[in-house]
Formats: sequence, C-alpha cells, structure tokens
Amino acid sequence: MTSHTSTGRKLNFSAGPAVLPECVLEQAAVAVQDLDDTGMSVLEHSHRGAAIDRVFEEATADCRAVGAIPEEFEILFLQGGASMQFAMTPLNFLASGGVADYLDTGSWTSKAIDDARKIGEVHVAWSGREQAYRSIPNPQDICWSSDPSYGWYCTNNTIYGTTWETAPICKAPLIADMSSDIFSRPIDWDRHGMVIAGAQKNIGPAGVTLAILRRDLLDAANPDLPAMLRYAIHAEKGSRYNTPPVFAVYCAGLVFKWILSIGGLQAVESMNRRKSAVIYNAIDSSNGFYTGHADKACRSMMNIPFTTPSAELDTAFLNEAETESMCNLKGHRSVGGIRASIYNAFPEEGCQRLAEFMADFADRHGG
Ligand SMILES: Cc1ncc(COP(=O)(O)O)c(C=O)c1O
Repeated sequence: MTSHTSTGRKLNFSAGPAVLPECVLEQAAVAVQDLDDTGMSVLEHSHRGAAIDRVFEEATADCRAVGAIPEEFEILFLQGGASMQFAMTPLNFLASGGVADYLDTGSWTSKAIDDARKIGEVHVAWSGREQAYRSIPNPQDICWSSDPSYGWYCTNNTIYGTTWETAPICKAPLIADMSSDIFSRPIDWDRHGMVIAGAQKNIGPAGVTLAILRRDLLDAANPDLPAMLRYAIHAEKGSRYNTPPVFAVYCAGLVFKWILSIGGLQAVESMNRRKSAVIYNAIDSSNGFYTGHADKACRSMMNIPFTTPSAELDTAFLNEAETESMCNLKGHRSVGGIRASIYNAFPEEGCQRLAEFMADFADRHGG
C-alpha cells in the first residue's frame, strides 16, 4: 500500500463508513483480544454480563456528556441503520388520522418520506428537489401543516453538501436525521424532540444507530407494534431487548471519549470550520475551475461535493488523487463529480493536502 500521510494511513474521504480516530482503532484492536483485562474479547462477552453492562453505561454517560444531552432525553443504541428509523418514527408517532411534516432536502429525506407514506399521511412542508437540492429553506418558505404529529428534517445532506445552520422551529416534536453531522457541533435540544443517526460517519463502525428522544414521546408512542419496533421497549431494556451490536457500541464509546479528550463539541466545531474552510477556499480561489454543488449560504462542514469543468477532468482528478493516497473522493452517483467527506476524525493535514492538490491540478489543467 502506498501511503503518504505522516501516520502512514491513506487519506480516506469516504462518505461512510468513514475514517475513525487512530487511537480508537488501537484501543478497539486491544479489546478484540482482551476487554479490560477480563481475559475475553469484547466480541465474546455475554451482552448481559458485567463487562458489557459497563460498556453500555459508559457509552451512554459519555454520549450524554459529549452532546450535553438533557436528562429528559433517553439515549438508545438500535440496529437497522438510519434507514430503519425512516419506518420506526412514523410507526411510533404518526397516529392514525394524523399528519407528519417533512422537509425534503435530499435523497435521504425523500426516502424517509416514501417510507412514512406507507404508514400514514405525509405533508411535504418544503422541497428542494426541483433545484437539485442545492439549498436549505428560509424559515418563511416552510409551510408547516396546522397540527402535525411531528416534523422531520435532515441536518446535513450528505450527498449534496448542504447544512442547516440553525434548526427549524416546529411546534410539533422535531425529529432530526443527524446521520452525517452528529457531534460535529453543539446541538440545540430545545428545538428537538428526537435525533437519530447511523453511526458510520461521526460515531463509529456501521451496525449501531443512535436514537436520542424525549421521554414524554415514549409515553405517547403507539404501543401496538412488534417489540423490536417500539422505542419504549428499547428504552425499558437499556438498548438490550435482543442481542445488541456490542462491538459497535464499544467503539462508539471510545469515539465519545476521544471527543471529550480533544475539548468537546465547541473545539470540534472550530476544528471542522477550519478544515472545511481550507477546501472551500480552494474552490472559491480557482477562478471558476471548481464549482461547488451547494449554495454558499448553506455549505456543509462534513461533505463537500464539487466538479471540475468536465466529466473527463473529474475522472482524471480522481485517478491522480488516488495515486497521492487520497481515496474515496468520487461523488455520489446522483450528483457526480467529486465529494470530499471530512468528518470529525478526518485529519486537518488531509484537508490541506487536498487543497494543495486541487490548486496544482487546476494549474495543470487550465485553471
Ligand atoms: C443523512 C443520512 N441519512 C440516512 C442515511 C442512511 O444510513 P444507513 O445506511 O445507516 O441506513 C445516510 C447514509 O449515508 C445519510 O447520510
């Protein structure tokens, strides 16, 4: 393997599963052999034993500390990915005869809408589909229905590189899909009833999904669902109604400790602003050689999709970048071009390296 980073690892710009902090990988490797000197691997322990009790307790406490999650919110570790939540939330909260409001800012909200429509009535309160999902709505353009059961939006649109700077205000419980930007900055809990996130970007390996929800919503949820689909059951059983993905939860716990060790979400946000600015500057100072997909007002700190002047140059860019150990830069098939995903654990050095490469590539190819 060719590698040119100071740590000997490739620069992994993947949109997910994504780069993890090296210290997390090292600790996880030790625990795969022997968890906390128990003489057994984290993969072998019973999910009901004392060692795994500790894993869940610590991961939950550290998650609460990282996100400054108020006590009235329950923290659940679930399975089925963020996609499972597209069905679970309407099953639990879309009462028969009710309406759920959705803000359609990309493929992931659109998939959530499709699933919710199979369960109940959906009102699309805003859609950016006609504008190729380049933007986020202004508050005055959102057309909430009169009495929704809940509102659903996605804080960061992984494919299009758009982000909500502040959460919308919804009078019903607001549910946020934060799969691709959770814990990249502080969360405004006053505006949210529930947050869900697949782990494989900012939290840990795929296999666990975080659901953080206000306890009063558990009481109001539909009780007539199969057990695995009920948030209340998962809450009652401490996320261990059935056999949970222990290793993924363990790794998530290590990531939470890492975030705390580097100064928490305020520090992480400053770092993410610096990192993304380096790449946006490379786009904006290229005299039009590079074009970003997202409107400037709503640029993401996590995912930066952009194009060169032609599909041929996009391909040349990706091939050359690969030879420099910058991998997984190919844009999502629905947008094309290039996408740099630079989640929390992606090194600052890597953003600098990409920006230098972009300037050099543009110089050589007519920028
Ligand atoms: C914003 C967003 N929501 C949902 C998903 C789906 O996640 P999963 O594959 O965990 O179901 C993704 C995956 O990339 C995503 O980026």
